[in-house]
Amino acid sequence: MRARGEDRTMAWVLYGAYGYTGRLILQEALRQGIPPLLAGRNPRALQALAQETGLPYQAAPLEDPEALDRLLRGRRLVLHAAGPFEITMPPMLAACLRQGVHYLDITGEIAVFEHLAQRHEDARRRGVLLLPGVGLDVVPSDCLAAHLKAHLPSATHLRLVICSTRAGVSRGTLRTMVLNLHRPSAVRRDGRIVDIPPGDTVLEMVLGGRTRRVYRVRWGDVSTAYHTTGIPNIEVFMCLPRPLARLLPWWPWVKALVRFPAVRRLLAAGVRWLLPPGPSEAQRARGRVFFEGHAWDPEGRRVCARLETPEGYTLTARAAVAAVKEVFTRAEEVSGFQTPARLFGPSWVLSLEGVVGFSPCATDFPV
Ligand SMILES: NC(=O)c1ccc[n+]([C@@H]2O[C@H](COP(=O)([O-])OP(=O)(O)OC[C@H]3O[C@@H](n4cnc5c(N)ncnc54)[C@H](OP(=O)(O)O)[C@@H]3O)[C@@H](O)[C@H]2O)c1
Repeated sequence: MRARGEDRTMAWVLYGAYGYTGRLILQEALRQGIPPLLAGRNPRALQALAQETGLPYQAAPLEDPEALDRLLRGRRLVLHAAGPFEITMPPMLAACLRQGVHYLDITGEIAVFEHLAQRHEDARRRGVLLLPGVGLDVVPSDCLAAHLKAHLPSATHLRLVICSTRAGVSRGTLRTMVLNLHRPSAVRRDGRIVDIPPGDTVLEMVLGGRTRRVYRVRWGDVSTAYHTTGIPNIEVFMCLPRPLARLLPWWPWVKALVRFPAVRRLLAAGVRWLLPPGPSEAQRARGRVFFEGHAWDPEGRRVCARLETPEGYTLTARAAVAAVKEVFTRAEEVSGFQTPARLFGPSWVLSLEGVVGFSPCATDFPV
């Protein structure tokens, strides 16, 4: 990673810059000529990254409000890349509101989206934008949802299907998943988020040229697609790795075990120490993510559309940096809670390198 020097550093902070995804975002930001201020909690890791890139850095633990204030004072936005966000978002949000700095993150956690949505008025009064989910979860699916809504304004039901192929997950993502293991799955019914057992419904669909089994899961769009489209019934299906799919029938037993926070923390620690940081460059280069969206209304009208993107972490880096650039161009006009598609429009995802869509598909899907 080569830097352009401190003087060209824009007024934005990349928090969690030395994490797996933080580093990919940093690479992309440098490629696009918008170097950030490197930030996080570990001064040694930041110093090493600063030496590698020639960029300035500032350490600020999230437990230290004064250090966070010093970090954000005079900046325009922070891109928060340090998760699990249910733990890391509240102190960063509070600092952004105190300092009048726009907040962006790459969460996919429903609880985080919902919490931020509830802070809309507060943020609007302070001229602060809250824009979570500028990664794989939820940029493409959020734009797909908005595209479907535009084609069927009377839609009352939305189904999003996501299938990530030939890549892997980072240990940070796995850690976040493990810490959320005790949570049931979720759908939106009549505007409310409702718990369901994980994988309670399975569909067979052709995605990326192959027939695949997809499972109904807990996913960020159950929160965000509602804020974007107003469609009151939302469900998300995903392809699952075979070992995970095999675990689904054992869910009641797994749940009994992981209901103890100590068990989840132990599993998360195992993930952290035993697994590699994330997919290699070669894995990322060959991975693809396929999306299909279905929307329908009570009169039997149906629409279907597809989208295909690069591998998830590559897409996350591209989307996050594109979001930072967009917010910079309208920093004075935007505030309050937003979703990517509501703020940038459904077609925004198509401007990201390697994204193909929206292509129509058959409307004989099951409802
Ligand atoms: N929505 C999406 O599509 C998407 C895509 C990619 C990643 N993510 C999410 O982004 C997060 C990071 O993923 P990753 O792959 O980059 O994980 P990672 O490699 O483990 O990096 C996590 C980063 O967060 C920092 N961190 C964690 N807890 C912290 C805390 N309490 N205070 C300060 N810093 C803290 C870590 O710092 P230390 O090393 O000092 O602990 C590290 O810099 C995960 O929650 C993941 O699920 C979402």
